[in-house]
Amino acid sequence: MNETLERWSSRRAFILAVTGAAVGLGNIWRFPYITGENGGALFLLLYVAFVLLLGLPVMIAEIMIGRAGRRGPVQALRHLAAEAGASRHWRWLGVFGAFTVFCILSFYSVVSGWSIEFLVTAVNGGFVGASPDEIGAGFEAFLADPARMTFNHTLFLLMTLLVVAAGVAKGLEKLNNLLMPLLYLLLLVLAVHAATTEGFGPALAWLFLPDLSALRPMVVMQAMGHAFFTLAVGACALMAYGAYMPDQQSLPKAAGAVALLDVTVALLAGIAIFSAVFAQGLDPAEGPGLMFVTLPIAFAELPWGALWLSLFFLLLLLATWTSSINLAEPMVATLQARGLKRGRATAIVGVAVWLLGLLSVFSFSSLAEVTWVGDMTFFALVTTVPTEIFLPVGGLMIAIFAAWIMPETLAREALGIGPKGFRLWRTVVRWVSIPLTLVVLVAGLF
Ligand code: PHE
Ligand code: NA
Repeated sequence: MNETLERWSSRRAFILAVTGAAVGLGNIWRFPYITGENGGALFLLLYVAFVLLLGLPVMIAEIMIGRAGRRGPVQALRHLAAEAGASRHWRWLGVFGAFTVFCILSFYSVVSGWSIEFLVTAVNGGFVGASPDEIGAGFEAFLADPARMTFNHTLFLLMTLLVVAAGVAKGLEKLNNLLMPLLYLLLLVLAVHAATTEGFGPALAWLFLPDLSALRPMVVMQAMGHAFFTLAVGACALMAYGAYMPDQQSLPKAAGAVALLDVTVALLAGIAIFSAVFAQGLDPAEGPGLMFVTLPIAFAELPWGALWLSLFFLLLLLATWTSSINLAEPMVATLQARGLKRGRATAIVGVAVWLLGLLSVFSFSSLAEVTWVGDMTFFALVTTVPTEIFLPVGGLMIAIFAAWIMPETLAREALGIGPKGFRLWRTVVRWVSIPLTLVVLVAGLF
C-alpha cells in the first residue's frame, strides 16, 4: 500500500501545498473582521500566542499521524490505534473531522463566491470612482440577492470539486508553486502603500497596543478557534496531506515555515485593511463584510486601482481555492475508504456541501430573521461553532492521540527529527497544548 501512494515531488512542494491549505479566507477575510469585532491588539496577541502554543504543535501532530499512517485519516487512525493496542474508536476522530470540514466548506464556498462577484465587478471597473458609501451599499445589495450568491457559490464549488476529483497531488502542486508567492507580493505592495496613508499610524496602534483589561473568556476562545482555523488544524484535513509527505523531510521545520507564512499573510492583510478603515473613518467591527468593503475603497485610491483590485481578488480566489480543495479532501478520502470511487465520492460531497451552503446564502435574505442558537442566523452559526468548538475539540483529540497513544518509535520516525527535538515537541503537546485547549474550551463554554 505504501508504494502506491503518490508523494509530493519535493520539500518545497509539500510546504507550498500545506501553505496553500492554510492561507485563505482565514487570513484575509476572517482574521481582519474577527480582530475588528474583538477590539484589535489583544485579540492579535492571543491569536499569535495560540498559534505558537497550540496551532503549531498540533499541526505537527496532525501531519505526523497522516505521515505515519500513509493513508486517509480514518484508516490512518484505525491502523495506528491497532498498532498501539488502543481502541478502534479512534477512527471516529477522522469522521468527526470530516463533519467539521463539511460545515466549514459550506460557508467557505459561499464567501469565496463573494470574491468571484467582486473579481468580476473589479475587472469591469465597477469600483472606479465609487464612494465608500456606494461600495458598502453595493455589497448589501449583493447579499440581498440570493440568485447571484447561489450562482457564485455553485461556480466555486464546481471549481473545487474538479480538482478534487482529479486527485490531490497532481492537481495542486503546479498551482501552488506559482500562486502563493504572487499573493504574498501583492499583499506586501498593499501594506507598503498603506504606510503612505494617514490611517497607517492608528492602524498600527490599534493592532499592536493591547488593552489587557478587555480580556474575556469569549475573546480567548475565539482567538483559539481562529488559530486552529487559520492553520487548517483540527479537522484531519492536513492529516490527509501528511500521507503524501516525502520521507526525508523534517516535519517540524516544514510546519514552522507554514505557520510563519500564515501569520505574516494575516498581518499584511490586517495592516492594509485597518489602515483603510482608519483613513476612511469606518467601523473596525463592521463584521463579515469588512474586507469586501474596505479593500475596494483602499484600492480605489491607488493609480491603476481597478487593475490592482482585479489582481487581488483573482489571487484571493486562487488562495481560497487551494484551501477549499484541502477542506474537501478528508470527506472524499473518508467515502473512498468505504469503497466508493473517487468521482462518485466527490459528487456526493459536492451535493451535500452545496445544499448546506444554501442555508448560508439565504441567511442574508429570506432566512435573515430565522435564528438558530441565541440570535444567530445560520451563517453566523456555521461560521462560529465549527471553528470555535469543533476544531479545538478535534485538535485536542489529535494531540492526545499523537502524544499519548501513538507508539513512540512510529511517532519519532514520522516527525523526522532527533530524540531531543522529539521530546521537546511531546512535552509541549502533553503539558501545554492539551491542558490549554481544555481550559479555554471549558472556560468559554461554561
Ligand atoms: N486555513 C484555511 C483558511 O485560513 C481554512 C481551513 C480550515 C482549511 C480548516 C482547511 C481546514 O482559510
Ligand atoms: Na489561514
